[in-house]
Amino acid sequence: GASHNRLHIKGGRVVNADCSVDADVYIENGLIVKVGKNLDVPGGTRVVDASGKLVMPGGIDTHTHMQLPFMGTFAVDDFYVGTKAAIAGGTTMIIDFVLDQKGVSLIEAYDKWRGWADPKVCCDYSFHIAVTWWSPQVKSEMAELAKNRGINSFKMFMAYKDVFMLDDSELYEVYKNCRELGALAMMHAENGHVIQHEQERMLNLGITGPEGHALCRPEDVEAEATGRAIMIANRLNCPMYIVHVMSKSSADVIVQARKQGNVVFGEPIAASLGTDGTNYWHKCWRHAAGHVMGPPLRPDPTTPGYLMDLLANGDLECTGTDNCTFNASQKALGKDNFAKIPNGVNGVEDRMSVIWEVGVICNPPIYLHLYYQYISICIKLLNLPARGVASGKMDENRFVAVTSTNAAKVFNIYPQKGVIAPGSDADIIIWDAEATRTISAKTHHQAVDFNIFEGLVCHGVNSCTISRGKVVYEAEDNKFTVSGGDGKFVPRKPFCKYVYNRINKRKENYDPSKVEREPFQGD
Ligand code: URP
Ligand code: ZN
Ligand code: ZN
Repeated sequence: GASHNRLHIKGGRVVNADCSVDADVYIENGLIVKVGKNLDVPGGTRVVDASGKLVMPGGIDTHTHMQLPFMGTFAVDDFYVGTKAAIAGGTTMIIDFVLDQKGVSLIEAYDKWRGWADPKVCCDYSFHIAVTWWSPQVKSEMAELAKNRGINSFKMFMAYKDVFMLDDSELYEVYKNCRELGALAMMHAENGHVIQHEQERMLNLGITGPEGHALCRPEDVEAEATGRAIMIANRLNCPMYIVHVMSKSSADVIVQARKQGNVVFGEPIAASLGTDGTNYWHKCWRHAAGHVMGPPLRPDPTTPGYLMDLLANGDLECTGTDNCTFNASQKALGKDNFAKIPNGVNGVEDRMSVIWEVGVICNPPIYLHLYYQYISICIKLLNLPARGVASGKMDENRFVAVTSTNAAKVFNIYPQKGVIAPGSDADIIIWDAEATRTISAKTHHQAVDFNIFEGLVCHGVNSCTISRGKVVYEAEDNKFTVSGGDGKFVPRKPFCKYVYNRINKRKENYDPSKVEREPFQGD
């Protein structure tokens, strides 16, 4: 092939979820061809120097909402800017949501979202489909999507009453269909009925600001729905994926369910791992509103560390961001009523750095980052190694697992994605563990005018992104070499083994047989 289709990453340490090795990587036509030392590489191949750096699978963000029409407006990060920002931060694939109103055909919604995304995406992407209503038509459209359109995951809502919410009986039907189709059921777990009443109660108490958002949907509103979602799924032997795990209580419910043998996965997001709900009480309205998302961030500042521990030990599986961003003027739709503040925060660009910082480097909660800045200055002055403050919750391999590999496994695109190995897609990042950057809305690549991680100093920076075998971003001169449409839709097959092997083996337990007995003969 032409030399511009070849790439040779030299001198780095290749980090996969299972192990790390000092090795070079040779890429041809978008695919990884060889991994090893002293590779025989054709002349004229472009060399990417990775000495002193980590060569890792590009991140997979399991949860984004680019340009989502939501709460009377559209998310400002569209499929172009959003995926460009993803690339800058070291994410090479997003899984976004097709999320339309009740009554809209799922196929039409799918086509509409493909029409938005295909010409704009700068990295590979896929879709989960939201099921916001139930009917025989929805049932057959789910089958069409699973069989012919590359969709193996469907998201349902227990919140957003009258908008997206399904009741338990509808959820039962949707799960049943997911199980028959070999799809993964995903859940937004919050009790929508209680939220609606509690919103009214808070407004009647005169609480109209963003703190009202947190007050009307506390942890147990999330934990109750999480347990209910898992219980119903378990009746049907349907695998369950809880999206945006925001609280310790909800995470505990997932941990218990896994201990009891349920096939359930939990997804914390950059926001729940990197900041907390004390921000809702911030005196600046814009700052507080900037953190409004559902379920809310939790006021308990030990939440990020707790979720990170569960992610580190395997109780939680994947990490997304729920990237769904709104500018100040859009958040202001709810300036007099927190219930009207468009829900959503950023994360797609910063997820990798935030998880590296909180999971690998920094020990105490992030709100102490100023203290850490101070410590790292002292460390520099004393000439100690820059990483003297490592928390060790996760090592580099676990980092790769929770930011990329596990997502590829759960959503059935492994080993095409999520690993650096011959035959896999060449979606690779070159990670500089020694570099630092300070997150700020002033310098981020997202369209939104706010960043929930503002001021966070991250030790661990993506220095180069390779997508589909091409260098698409170089941090040194902040250079992008990518156009909208360069990314491709990645179809995903149903009956993913990682999810369904256990489900299929349990089938007998879920189809019990009756006891043969003589009919009752007495009066
Ligand atoms: O606040 C959020 N999470 N906005 C996006 C929609 C959703 O529920 O994921
Ligand atoms: Zn949600
Ligand atoms: Zn979401």
